[in-house]
Amino acid sequence: MAYLIVGDVHGCLEELVALVDRYGAGRTLVHVGDLVAKGPDSRGVVAYCAERSVLGVRGNHDERILAWQHAVDRGLTPPPVAREHMRVCEELGEREWAYLRALPYVLPLPDVGVVVVHGGLVPGVPLEAQRPEHVVAMRTLRPDGTPSDRLEDGVLWATRWPGPQEVVFGHDAISGLQRHRFATGIDTGCVYGGRLTGYLLPERRLVHVEARRNWSGKPPMPRRVLVGIASELAPGRLVHVPLRVSPRGLPRRAIVLRLAAGEHAGQVRAYVDICRHLPVPLSAGDASPLDASGEHLVCGTHGARYRVVDGYCVEGPCRGTRLESLQVIEEDGRLWVVDETR
Ligand code: FES
Repeated sequence: MAYLIVGDVHGCLEELVALVDRYGAGRTLVHVGDLVAKGPDSRGVVAYCAERSVLGVRGNHDERILAWQHAVDRGLTPPPVAREHMRVCEELGEREWAYLRALPYVLPLPDVGVVVVHGGLVPGVPLEAQRPEHVVAMRTLRPDGTPSDRLEDGVLWATRWPGPQEVVFGHDAISGLQRHRFATGIDTGCVYGGRLTGYLLPERRLVHVEARRNWSGKPPMPRRVLVGIASELAPGRLVHVPLRVSPRGLPRRAIVLRLAAGEHAGQVRAYVDICRHLPVPLSAGDASPLDASGEHLVCGTHGARYRVVDGYCVEGPCRGTRLESLQVIEEDGRLWVVDETR
């Protein structure tokens, strides 16, 4: 069977419809949970999925409103919920509640060798023994192998997932798109003004639609963008990595390179690929802007020269300015840059 698996929708109905219209023909639609909260039309999203009997799993936000409804149904004191969740609770009708109640925590798609969850799976624990509170919320593994929902507690769980089944998951807009050997994370922060991502199976191809706007009421959260395997970025080598589209709709990308010489040799630097003189990329396409010495990035338009070590412009019309630098994270053998595009 052919599938389109959709990342965290969070009430972004327009983007969901656009993604399905563009890529969903002839495919079974699946979601990774967190249909509700934060965005503009949670009820509309759940109704859309209920009408079409869309396959999917529970997310932590879906779980929160289900716990509230479960208590209310039984005449018990409901657990406290945030205002955004209360609003969703008041909007949903019986058909939408029934749809959410029927969602599993884990959805195997054996014909394509995939398992869908919202948060993650603990390596070494059989599917049937995974605990729901971990499945909907975990992001990392602590050094002792126990799951945590905090990024700062350990390594991304997906980097340790041994396969052979591929896990497709959401829940981690900060880490953004994750592509690991046996795990693919597709929460690309649509509700924060990022993108709604889809994963096409059996092709294993990623597709996107851009968010209509940032619905969260907060600045877009910085997100980590995977550069690749750290050891594959050799000294003196440079790669380009796509960043979020700017608020004015302009595509942005990063230059990431490992220093080859000098006292910082071996360290990685990342800069936004926009010249400080005029807002253009330093070089066209994927051509390298590194000069022959490997010590400068050169703008192809009017020749500004920036030091690779700190992005400082030593020559040209924007002399004395600096390229916008990006934080680089090296973790568990992988390189990431932090995209703070607002
Ligand atoms: S645009 Fe880069 S130096 Fe003028």
